[in-house]
Amino acid sequence: MKFLAATSNPGKLKEFHRILEPLGIQVLSPKELGLAVEVEETAGTFEGNARLKAEAYFSASGMPTLADDSGLCIDALGGAPGVYSARFEGEDTPYPVKMQKILDLMQGKTGEERSARFVCALVCVLGPGRELCAVESCEGYVGEKIEGAHGFGYDPIFVEKETGKSFASLSDEEKDRHSHRGKSLRKMQRLLWEELGQR
Ligand code: IMP
Repeated sequence: MKFLAATSNPGKLKEFHRILEPLGIQVLSPKELGLAVEVEETAGTFEGNARLKAEAYFSASGMPTLADDSGLCIDALGGAPGVYSARFEGEDTPYPVKMQKILDLMQGKTGEERSARFVCALVCVLGPGRELCAVESCEGYVGEKIEGAHGFGYDPIFVEKETGKSFASLSDEEKDRHSHRGKSLRKMQRLLWEELGQR
């Protein structure tokens, strides 16, 4: 089975390939199809934004499309940066600067006051009006410092609850086992198999 991934984020694409290919799902990027689609993320929810992206890329390509909208929600910041995670402090601002800003905002907060979660909403469009949705999250804390060299985005400041390590300190396999995206992609695979009558 082949899907277009409605994203040009290299971090997300790498995880899509890594998690879906062993499950028998091949992923193509917009670049591989020569597609450039601009989608304004105006929905205000992860699920709504994922749907906007999936439908726009499906319209442009005509092929089954999988979109991810995700972000880091920090309780002490009222859920920010949330759906604005990519745009926080400006879309083009380097992640070390964005992460330092968050660490500064969290100064003086300890223990449970640092609770946070990553959320990943996936919407898959199989045909007109034929959509599947999976939303999963991963609980953790905002770390005290930038730590670890793997992954992308906010991985170095998110400490995953079960391992007690930053996402950026985990191996690929460990991140995928615990992450919001790993859980959401595996749920989507189950929904797809049910929908398509496969096992
Ligand atoms: P989107 O393209 O609007 O869904 O932006 C998602 C943003 O959330 C990314 O650009 C990252 O800043 C952040 N994000 C989502 N998932 C992860 C992850 O697994 N690790 C680190 N940052 C992530």
